[in-house]
Amino acid sequence: MEKLKKKTDNIFVIGTDTGVGKTVLSLLLMHFFYANGCIPFYIKPIQTGCSDPYDKDSDARFIYKHVSQLTKKDPADSIVYCFREPKAPYFASRNEGKTIELKAIQNALDKKSRIYSPVILEAAGGLLVPVNENRLMIDLIKMTGAKPIIAARAGLGTINHTLLTIVALYKRHIKPLGIVFIDAGEKPAPQDMVSENIEAVESYSSIKVAGVISRIKDFSNPEKQCYQPIERICSSQVSGVGNFLSGLSVS
Ligand SMILES: Nc1ncnc2c1ncn2[C@@H]1O[C@H](COP(=O)(O)OP(=O)(O)OP(=O)(O)O)[C@@H](O)[C@H]1O
Ligand SMILES: [Mg+2]
Repeated sequence: MEKLKKKTDNIFVIGTDTGVGKTVLSLLLMHFFYANGCIPFYIKPIQTGCSDPYDKDSDARFIYKHVSQLTKKDPADSIVYCFREPKAPYFASRNEGKTIELKAIQNALDKKSRIYSPVILEAAGGLLVPVNENRLMIDLIKMTGAKPIIAARAGLGTINHTLLTIVALYKRHIKPLGIVFIDAGEKPAPQDMVSENIEAVESYSSIKVAGVISRIKDFSNPEKQCYQPIERICSSQVSGVGNFLSGLSVS
């Protein structure tokens, strides 16, 4: 693939739910942008379920461990807020007597955006997860202006979750860059079901599913085909392909 332009839009990796593969997709994006001559940066604005950024469940730790350019760097640099309880950010922070300020996240992003491109942010949970008393994850996404890529499961249940996610974005006038299905299970989802899921999501949303990422064996060196969905998203971004959401009757 042609080398990407140095300055690229920041990306927000969002998910239809928790545990769908957002961190793994973020990891692939980091590998991909490094391989294409960019110097990307990963931010997990709000990490829950971790005692500190070095905890075994820390998403930043996972990214730093598997990206050779980062193995000697400090994952704490990629986390703005970290809370112990594996709960929605509002409740995890409230139980520690803290309040998540969207401005603090924007400041961290602005700082990194001056040096790195793109900055890849990873959401916590799904779009309507409360971040503080009156803000949801989707408000954070809107504020940053980063372009969302939707990580969704490949198998049963994904049509509903993916279309609801797209409707929520549409209501806030946010255009996703693309949708990626992740088929992480030891046993792959049945091929006919995956094809039907793609067909349904595409026909009801008019957004292309960029592809399916299957189970990865080595996160430090994922198979070449894992990058195909990202390549498709990046090339349509370059050619300005749009027409998002015209098929969804959500007005
Ligand atoms: N393509 C894949 N191949 C192998 N394992 C995968 C793949 N995608 C996800 N996983 C595994 O599935 C689990 C959930 O994935 P991941 O941590 O990326 O989800 P997430 O959406 O980031 O979750 P969270 O909401 O907790 O941040 C992890 O153990 C991860 O290693
Ligand atoms: Mg994650």
